[in-house]
Amino acid sequence: MCGIMGYVGPRPASPIILQGLERLEYRGYDSAGVAVADGGVIEIRKSAGKLDRLRQKLDESEPAGHIGIGHTRWATHGPPTDENAHPHTDPTEKFAIVHNGIIENYFELREELRASGREFASDTDTEVLVHLIADEYDGDLAEAIRAAVKRATGAYALVAVTAHEPDTMVAVRMIRPLVIGFGQGETFLASGIPALLDHTRDVLVMEDGELATISAAGIILEKLDGTPVERDHLDIDWDVEQAEKGGYAHFMLKEIFEQPRVVADSLLGRLDGSAVTLEDVKWDSDFEQSLEKIWITACGTAFHAGLAGKEMLEGLLRIPTEAVYAHELRYRDPIVEPNSLTLAISQSGETADTLAAARLLHERGSRLVAITNVVGSALTHYSDDVVYTRAGLEISVASTKAYTAMLVAQYLVALRLGQSRGVLDTARASEVAAALEALPSQVESLLTREAGIDEMSRYLATQLSDENDIYFIGRGLDYAVATEGSLKLKEISYLHSEAMPAGELKHGTLALITQGTPVIVVNTQAHVYDKTISALQEVKARGASVIAVAYDDDSEIEHYTDHVLRIPRTMDLLSPVLSIVPLQLLAYHVADARGLEIDQPRNLAKSVTVE
Ligand code: AGP
Repeated sequence: MCGIMGYVGPRPASPIILQGLERLEYRGYDSAGVAVADGGVIEIRKSAGKLDRLRQKLDESEPAGHIGIGHTRWATHGPPTDENAHPHTDPTEKFAIVHNGIIENYFELREELRASGREFASDTDTEVLVHLIADEYDGDLAEAIRAAVKRATGAYALVAVTAHEPDTMVAVRMIRPLVIGFGQGETFLASGIPALLDHTRDVLVMEDGELATISAAGIILEKLDGTPVERDHLDIDWDVEQAEKGGYAHFMLKEIFEQPRVVADSLLGRLDGSAVTLEDVKWDSDFEQSLEKIWITACGTAFHAGLAGKEMLEGLLRIPTEAVYAHELRYRDPIVEPNSLTLAISQSGETADTLAAARLLHERGSRLVAITNVVGSALTHYSDDVVYTRAGLEISVASTKAYTAMLVAQYLVALRLGQSRGVLDTARASEVAAALEALPSQVESLLTREAGIDEMSRYLATQLSDENDIYFIGRGLDYAVATEGSLKLKEISYLHSEAMPAGELKHGTLALITQGTPVIVVNTQAHVYDKTISALQEVKARGASVIAVAYDDDSEIEHYTDHVLRIPRTMDLLSPVLSIVPLQLLAYHVADARGLEIDQPRNLAKSVTVE
């Protein structure tokens, strides 16, 4: 998520903007910049890297104006470079804009503008917007922005200034957050409340589809169609740390609840009906037709996403697919067939084992695709293609939203390959695409339903928090989810847990099941549902306490379990995106019940960049 800060008032703008951007640093970024309007010109200072590089540029020559905008960029389109840093200006440098989010149709808009002779200084989708605004400007910045955003589609927040109106900035919220702070004779705008708290606690939260014309005296708030909007202000009583967590107790919980937006972002601009666009994938249809093997390699949570990917890709495409831990693969002597594809999955794109395994397969001729959350990460430098997960910065060491985004990335790859290889007919492809499009709202409903999984998992956590050995079981895709649920629990609650295929219990582990042993089962896959019920009966007969994750409309499961965490029904193929959520919450609440640190668990790092 990028950071946005704006100011208009009697004081010099750039120190206030820089301070606001510093308050937003926790969101993660790879470049930063400031634009200040003063005396008919707009001064820009921007650079790749951290705020200290921007501060250095401002120290060398600080713009003097009293109105300005600033930005910390988390790259989604184009690598982190000085040119790609925000703010972006039009060729006359009379307009400047900063933007957070994704303009879905930026490519065709840019091609249209190029055809009319426009040149672009960056690779970003943002720059397209400022060209449109400049084209539409006819003496009223708000009207120009209103006209420009009508042509853009996507999820974004933007704010712009123009040298023609050096006392006004105009902001638009379209899904990405924007908040306005009110001071004495000065007004602030930011993408997050932490940036405002040094100046004011009198805040207004903009809503989707709104445009705010902001001056030192206050704001005019309207719908994009011009309808005036009245909205109460909020008096924020959070401290800065609480504000950085959006009011949640931990970043992990905040990131669990960000998943509806993350799943939506992972799909944004990539699905048109069942047609799949992967903007950083360069392979051609000949490659797709010739594909004979898929390798998946990763570590930890990313590997668990890859386990689900293996089941799904092999099931859909009928191509042999092998998921191998990267720390195992890198020391093997793998037989790499020609015409093979490697999906190297890594949130950070910096995990040493994953980089080594990915390079080994690549050196032996496999086409390397990075599925990663960090633009410009090491893994992307070695890869032929990239599918960015667009989860935004994930602060908690325990990975949650990145996991669901990794799943979505693999579904998109499968949907694309399945259609190009003719194994997914139009009807089936449309069914998968429709089910994917429904996921964001299903995750949202799952997280917000009354007396839903948050309350239930909080209750169950109190029962688990003193247990020593907890077992997660499932079959097929449900087993892949069980492995991730087990890791979530153990890495933040420090309780031992173990995941295994449900069918494996009777081959040994059943000996450990005694009265009250907690067993958590994921049971959504229709073709093995009854078999998993048999495994449940095995453990229940030996006294286990069973918690199931099952569909809302499954009326059979409660006969075999003590508790059920229910999820909305979707295609069994896609159920991992939903079934993991209760297990994430369960792990969180167990660790919380045990009074543990949660965001920074002992002994663990967010990215294991050494062997
Ligand atoms: C998962 O919650 C852990 N943070 C850890 O297992 C992590 O998934 C693993 O280290 C891989 O990290 P990566 O995705 O950045 O490569």
